[in-house]
Amino acid sequence: MKKYCADLELPIPLFKSTLGPIEFLKLNNPTSARHYKISNELLSDDVVKFFEDHRLTINFVEVFYRPAGVNSYIHIDTQEPGDYVKLNWVFGGDGSTMCWYDIKENCQGASQKTSISTYAIHYAKDDVTLLHSQTVGQPTLVQVGIPHSINNNNLTERFCVSIIFGYKDQTGRPTFDNVYEIFKNYIKQ
Ligand SMILES: [Fe+2]
Repeated sequence: MKKYCADLELPIPLFKSTLGPIEFLKLNNPTSARHYKISNELLSDDVVKFFEDHRLTINFVEVFYRPAGVNSYIHIDTQEPGDYVKLNWVFGGDGSTMCWYDIKENCQGASQKTSISTYAIHYAKDDVTLLHSQTVGQPTLVQVGIPHSINNNNLTERFCVSIIFGYKDQTGRPTFDNVYEIFKNYIKQ
């Protein structure tokens, strides 16, 4: 079976702050930006240790913010389609679902540089077909190398904190299957 996401049983705090995550994320986003980076230093020692214990290194932490009633575009999080994984913590947006899509033949999408100088490819609805859809939790391993989008529930705002990581002592970016194996003891069945 092809895997698009996997919920982890990882009951550790995401941030060092004693504030609730949504309150804390708002404090770090005074302009209500839809996409912003936060310092790795804000992550809890438990989260840092979790990656270190699995010989992974945290590259950066980004946050996607969607006000109530705003859905995301269909997109890939990288410059080229492929097999790329992130670990996401979602706060708010209760009942929202993540959707993954197949790219129709000869549909290229539109490459873009994001506001935080990462890359994305955007796709029109007609360029893709739906493969899978499900609710994602805290945290969830997600495939971001194929087109995906979020259907927000339209009632509450949603913050998605995304940790981008790589191997500590190997080159190359781990694939979804690589990370699934590394985190196998934490995957919720
Ligand atoms: Fe994405």
